[in-house]
Amino acid sequence: MGDSVDFDVVVVGSCNLDLVSTTTHLPSPGETLRAVAYAEHAGGKGLNQAVACARMGARTAFIGCVGNDSAGTMLRDLLNSEGIDTSQLTTVDAPTGRAFITVDASGENTIVIVAGANAHLGKTAITLPSSKVLLAQLEIPLDVVTQVFTQAHNAITVLNPAPAAQLSTELLSLCDIAVPNENESAAMGGTKFLLGAGVTTVVTTLGERGAEISDATSTTAVTPYPVNAIDTVGAGDAFVGALCAELARGETIEHAARIASIAGALATTVHGAVPSLPTRAAVMSLYAD
Ligand code: RIB
Repeated sequence: MGDSVDFDVVVVGSCNLDLVSTTTHLPSPGETLRAVAYAEHAGGKGLNQAVACARMGARTAFIGCVGNDSAGTMLRDLLNSEGIDTSQLTTVDAPTGRAFITVDASGENTIVIVAGANAHLGKTAITLPSSKVLLAQLEIPLDVVTQVFTQAHNAITVLNPAPAAQLSTELLSLCDIAVPNENESAAMGGTKFLLGAGVTTVVTTLGERGAEISDATSTTAVTPYPVNAIDTVGAGDAFVGALCAELARGETIEHAARIASIAGALATTVHGAVPSLPTRAAVMSLYAD
């Protein structure tokens, strides 16, 4: 990809240690459940999406915070091993973020996050490098997202509004593209509201039904890639990362979303978030122009 900017994609976001229990079903309120398996993985929507971008061939930088603990060291090492720039990954005096994840036999999941070090992002100044795409999520302080989108140079700003939150018109009007899932979209007032509040394009992910691209004048369906899903954790992150990497290559939003749809589908066929993120070679081998 071209060299006129520092990076193809800059990701400003969270990183977590994912503590993942596999169970027969998701627990009901008050229920104590035995896990059938347990694993720990690198995670966090920011880190996952940065890794997804890098595996899709994008020169990627990650801006975030880890704690001064073994989980923080593991996450930093993982980002470095993926070739991601970590010069603005700050180690702070707080525990590294955690995500408590339960995955049931059908691949469905629940996630509880504890922000930890992620809540410290923005307490020391961020120097935003130039990039083709600037990507953020909502597991970090909202004012940091607004601040970096304000300083986006000429980058395409992409917001994955996860977890959903009530966002200011100021922030929404700074978003070129928002990529919510159906639940997040509904919680934030739906596509029409987001477009009316100033988002230029909304790409709504619909799970096994694919995705939908909407702007002020049209709505385009993105067909799903059929797979046997075993674990949906990280599928949205694979979609968002692939979308941003393809946009950085200069692809249209429609083309980028079709490729992202394959990346998201492939990510459901492997357990864990980071382990499931596909390479561009794997995605493009399934792509028919
Ligand atoms: O999108 C999946 C991610 O959400 C997990 O890796 C977890 O850390 C939470 O941030």
